[in-house]
Amino acid sequence: MCGIFAYCTYLTEKDRKEICDILCTGLQRLEYRGYDSAGIGIDGDTEKDVILFKQVGKVAALRKLITESKVNFGKTFINQVSIAHTRWATHGAPSPINCHPLRSDPTNEFTVIHNGIVTNNNELRLVLQKKGYKFESETDTEVVAVLFKYIWDSQRGTRLDFTTLVKIVVKELEGSFAFVFKSIHFPNEVVTARRGSPLLIGVKTEKKLKIDFVDVEIAGPDVEKGAGLLAPGSSSLGSNFLVPQPAGMTRTQSRAFMSEEGVPQPIEFFIASDASAVVEHTKRVLYLEDDDIAHIIEGELHIHRLRREEGKSSVRAIETLELELAEIMKGKFDHFMQKEIYEQPESVVNTMRGRVNFDTHKITLGGLKAYLPIIRRCRRIVFSACGTSYHSCIATRAIFEELTEIPVSVELASDFLDRKTPIFRDDVCVFVSQSGETADTILAMRYCLERGALCVGVVNTVGSTISRESHCGIHINAGPEIGVASTKAYTSQYIALIMFAIQMSEDRISLTERRKQIIDGLHELPAQISQVLHGDKALQQLAKTVLANSRSLLIMGRGFQYATCLEGALKIKEISYTHSEGILAGELKHGPLALIDGDLPVILVMTRDSLYPKVQSALAQVTARKGQPIIICNEDDLSISKEYRTIRVPQTVDCLQGILNIIPLQLLSYHLAILNGFDVDFPRNLAKSVTTE
Ligand code: F6R
Repeated sequence: MCGIFAYCTYLTEKDRKEICDILCTGLQRLEYRGYDSAGIGIDGDTEKDVILFKQVGKVAALRKLITESKVNFGKTFINQVSIAHTRWATHGAPSPINCHPLRSDPTNEFTVIHNGIVTNNNELRLVLQKKGYKFESETDTEVVAVLFKYIWDSQRGTRLDFTTLVKIVVKELEGSFAFVFKSIHFPNEVVTARRGSPLLIGVKTEKKLKIDFVDVEIAGPDVEKGAGLLAPGSSSLGSNFLVPQPAGMTRTQSRAFMSEEGVPQPIEFFIASDASAVVEHTKRVLYLEDDDIAHIIEGELHIHRLRREEGKSSVRAIETLELELAEIMKGKFDHFMQKEIYEQPESVVNTMRGRVNFDTHKITLGGLKAYLPIIRRCRRIVFSACGTSYHSCIATRAIFEELTEIPVSVELASDFLDRKTPIFRDDVCVFVSQSGETADTILAMRYCLERGALCVGVVNTVGSTISRESHCGIHINAGPEIGVASTKAYTSQYIALIMFAIQMSEDRISLTERRKQIIDGLHELPAQISQVLHGDKALQQLAKTVLANSRSLLIMGRGFQYATCLEGALKIKEISYTHSEGILAGELKHGPLALIDGDLPVILVMTRDSLYPKVQSALAQVTARKGQPIIICNEDDLSISKEYRTIRVPQTVDCLQGILNIIPLQLLSYHLAILNGFDVDFPRNLAKSVTTE
């Protein structure tokens, strides 16, 4: 999905080369989100000049374009604003003209970078065309830039300030977005706005800041009216739980970023779609909320809202990131995906850290504690998620039902919304998301919030929309996941959900032994995952000799392992572009058996649990049709004939076995993609964070 990065300096000398470097590096940190073109907009040689560079393809190509240009790289700036963007095409093919920044006119009066979709762009475009304005791209974003110019041209006599102008423009827009705006009419100023797409602002000063929050300013009635170009849309939000309220701070000066001595100081601001682009510059960040408009001018940061809303926080805290740059770098690995697969012995420990007491067999999830009595009284639990996160819900559904004796349904977030599923006040709705920014999952959550259900977020990204808007939740603490294919987030989500189920059942004496068994199993997991990773060379060999040229692959299992099959198949198709299907083995004779012959590769997940005899029967059905299965089984399982290829994994408790079983499939998909020469971290057509419906 698109990535936003902007850089604004005040009383800080930088030459043009440094500025371009900072912008390109910022974009490189956002590459993992997926994109097809990139661009930057920087200050020109006069205040009335903006220089744009745009390129299709990787940020490296954009960097080359900039380096080879004839601009004066030695020119220095004390104050400046520059904007940068990676685009993932939605309206118009990847091309320099469709690439951001988009501009209002050939003199670059207003330039815009945008993440999301302006859904009423066609109507706005028609209105503006009728008024004589010209368009050069096919994008929805250009409409916004031209709308700026229209409003500026028509209200020129009144000398609108930049924020007021933005507020008027934003009132006309429908859809979801994060914007950064730059204008030659407001040199050294930058305005950002968000509705539905994440944005944060990093603040870097040499001296310690006197404040740790910025207070919110509410719009006057003139802006409430808007420009009236079209019927304006509006957005509603759930409540905010995780932004800390400042203690003992006065609000005056909260926007001015004075040093502790109370004097204005040199300052740099970094605006980005996510923290990975900012962390190497500063750890002090402020997350914007939906409908916030942030204005940076002369070293000050002002946050505006269009209207006062009951129950909304009137401050934005400046938080300290806990992310280290090293955590988002590849280190000794060739790809982020590989690194993240190998991190799992550690990431699962981080998910459990401080939450599981292996001596007393107790689980404590701080983020749920206050809500547990309500959760335990609920009528049903509804999980909602997409892709891999959805699979983690499928994987843990049975243990939730077993431990809580509450009916659990698992919903694909998009389908859940399409069906307008009935939701009641006594439902507990759980939203699982690595990014916490997946549009479908957020919309499903808002749908449930509106209906009064208790909403629980299970997310990896601290400060994300789901973590802020849900009533309570669990951070899975897997660390940043950069590879587009989700790996360590899956195993951590799986564990977080198991811990959730155990905690819910802790008042059930009859289940004490079962809980103890699972907690003991959790204790063994990190070492067992390491053991599975030791089989990597053999898996690479298997990929090379048996699977590399296959056009299709079936993965079968049942019970707890159905999710393993779905997730394994998703991994294989998304990065090695090989068709793959996860099949519930019980369904085999209801259709898929027709596919089986001596050529189609089949992986059978056959680790020991109560369903083992039934999976043995699936194996017999496959081999009777000359199928040549590869069997994922336990290391000490001697009952499997030597004629079959096996992938051996340690045995654990039934409900945890899927955590070990998925790892060989993650590794196989990785090797298949490499063997086929595909870009593992940036699979074609996919984005890491799917922030549009
Ligand atoms: C697959 C993958 C996707 C995501 C899905 C949901 O490897 O990564 O299927 O799982 O887009 O994303 P999150 O978890 O961020 O809501």
